[in-house]
Formats: sequence, C-alpha cells, structure tokens
Amino acid sequence: MKRDVRSPETAAVHGRADLEKKNGPVSTPIYQTSTFEVTDNEEQQRVTSTDRYYTRWGNPTNTVAEQTMAELEGTEAAHTFASGMGAITTTIMALLKSGDHIVAQRDVYGGVAKFLAEWLPRMGIETTFVDTTDYGQYERAIRSNTKLLYLESPTNPSLRVVDFARLAALAKKHRLLSIVDSTFGTPINQRPAERGIDLVVHSGTKYLGGHADLSCGVVCGRQELMDQLWETRTTLGNCMDPHAAWMLIRGLKTLAVRVARQNENAQRVAAFLVQHNKVRRVHYPFLESHAQYAIAREQMRGGGGMVTFEVEGTGEDACRVSEAMRLFTLATSLGGVESLVSIPVLTSHAMISAELREKMGVNEQMVRLSVGIENADDLIADLERALEAVGARQSVPVG
Ligand SMILES: Cc1ncc(COP(=O)(O)O)c(C=O)c1O
Repeated sequence: MKRDVRSPETAAVHGRADLEKKNGPVSTPIYQTSTFEVTDNEEQQRVTSTDRYYTRWGNPTNTVAEQTMAELEGTEAAHTFASGMGAITTTIMALLKSGDHIVAQRDVYGGVAKFLAEWLPRMGIETTFVDTTDYGQYERAIRSNTKLLYLESPTNPSLRVVDFARLAALAKKHRLLSIVDSTFGTPINQRPAERGIDLVVHSGTKYLGGHADLSCGVVCGRQELMDQLWETRTTLGNCMDPHAAWMLIRGLKTLAVRVARQNENAQRVAAFLVQHNKVRRVHYPFLESHAQYAIAREQMRGGGGMVTFEVEGTGEDACRVSEAMRLFTLATSLGGVESLVSIPVLTSHAMISAELREKMGVNEQMVRLSVGIENADDLIADLERALEAVGARQSVPVG
C-alpha cells in the first residue's frame, strides 16, 4: 500500500499494518507472546531495541496500533500504554526532573489534577494552575524552571476549549514542551500537532476503543520525544497488552464513522437541552452560546460527543435525572457506542477537593452525557422524560 497522505477516515481503517500483508490475514494478527525466539546471541542483542525482543519493550501488534495513531494525529511516532493515566504520568515523568515546574490549565481530568497537585510535589516538581481560557495568566505563570505546558481540550466535564496554535506559540517562545490531552477531541475532530503542539495524549479507553471494553492510553509526538517516553515506559512497565492493542486497532477502524454520528447526535441533544426550562446551562463547544465557540469552530471538525448540562435545581435533582434515564446508562467513562450519563462531582472529579472543583466550575448540578450512536430522537425522548425528575420528590417511575 502506498504511504502518501491519506484522510483520517482511510488511515483509521487501514492503519500502517504491513504484518504478513501478502496473502495474509486481513485482520492484524495478535502476537500474544511475552517474548521472541532468536537464533543466537548476536541476534539477541540486535533485536533488543525492536518490537521483537520482549513485550514490555514492544510487540508487533502494538506497533500497528501505534503507527496508526501516529498517522491519525499527523505525528512521527506514537506509544501505547496500559491506560490514559499511565500515558500521562509516564510522559511527565519521562520529560521532567526534580526542580522543574509545570504550568497547567485548571480544568483537567480529576486524576491528572490529583497527580499534578499531590503526587508530583513529592518528586520535587511543582505545578501552577491557571485559568483555562485566560492566556495572560499562562504567560505570567512561566518561570525560569518551567518545562511543560499541560493542556486539555475540550475539557472534562466543562467542555472549555483552548486555542492550540496560540498556546503552542507561547510554549515555543519560552522553550517549553506543550502537551494536550485530546481524549474528548479525538483525531477525527481535531489534530493539535498540526497547530504546533508537541505531544498529544489520549485515554484510548474512551473514543479510540469506542466500545467500553478496553483500557489503554496513547501518546503521539516527535520521534526524539517518543524515544524518551519509550525508555521510561519500559522501565516503569506501563505497557499495553497485545490483545488490548488488537482491540484498539479494531476500535480505530470505525472511529471516523462513530465520531461523525456522535457529533450529529450530541449537537441535537445540546440543542434540545438549551431550550428546556429545567436546564440552567448547557456546555457544548458547537453551540453559538459557548464562550469559545469561535475557536472551537476553527480548530475542530465537529463539536464531539460530550454534552454537559446543569439542572435548574439542586445536586439531588441532578442525581435524580441521571437515575431516571433508561437509554443513557448511569456509568462513569465515555466515548463508547452506547450513551452514558454520570455526575462529575461523584465520578471524574470526585478525587479532588471541593475547593479545586469550585475553581474549575464543576458543580453538583452538572450532569455529563457521553452521547452514543443510537437514534437521536430516542435519546432526546429519554432525556425529556428524565428531566421531569427535576424538582420531583421521588424518582420518576419506570414504565
Ligand atoms: C480527559 C481524560 N484524560 C485522561 C483520563 C484517564 O484515562 P484512563 O481512565 O484510561 O486512565 C480520563 C478518564 O476519564 C479522561 O476523561
């Protein structure tokens, strides 16, 4: 197969798999092995730095997943990890050392906020959190020992959007590395590396896998940075199992069609919620009322499948609505074909302090929807019925 530039829809299906392609299986084989035989010790030494030495180092199935992701993100290389958190923590530990400083936007996934605020200080690495959309604050927070600009967009769960090109330029001006958690964006809706971002990370557990049956993480970037990450991943043992890599490859094949449908469904769900009298506020990047609508439109191909809304009521009302839904399954996580609902203060942001949550604008009235690929009318009917629970004394009866 020729290697010229292909559109994401094509790259997602075909990947860069060359494994036994001629007269071989159409589906990428799973190299379900922890080690690889060599003929002699000279060969043993030669294969050490390849994907045919020992699976903690690398594995041919993982390589296919990694090369497909690199093509989708438009980067030189990619690495896979056991989870999104594994990808993020390993990347930061690979690139920083004691005495270094990070500037991070305030709205980040709760697990990352906890790692930056509570874990890294134990290793002598400090983080300054800044208002996510106040670009002056980012620059003012940079010090002589700052090494990394940490970003997430669209953010979990507030769906704020940051300007990649502007922040990549700021990072370059101050010789910082920039990293974006693009889990909510997916490489179908946005490609941060094309706008100058150095490293793109994903919780592949979400849209990339797409079926709520896989835990993995991916980091994409320049070869030289990826080599540093590889060393650390191999040392920490934060690698992905080859079977999980195969599931990731399978998930990626339908990524473009799933995301296109999720974009459409979420846009319709957001439009329904905006006009509902029991909804106080709707967060969705492609709503004209969204504070970063202009930049979202410019750097994203679709608004994504995540919609967060705040009920006109209390935290208990939000819980009641989430429990009254029948099509939206009450579960944490996101990005699968099936629609999910969760309460951010009890799930994605439960692990951080109420004070930090308040600064992020994450409140008890928030209900986060991961809109799936079902029929949009059915999803809206489910929401309409469940919203009757706002202000009701008891849960809405089923049936
Ligand atoms: C935006 C974002 N980044 C990272 C993670 C962590 O990913 P994982 O659960 O695969 O470790 C999550 C998990 O919800 C997330 O939402």
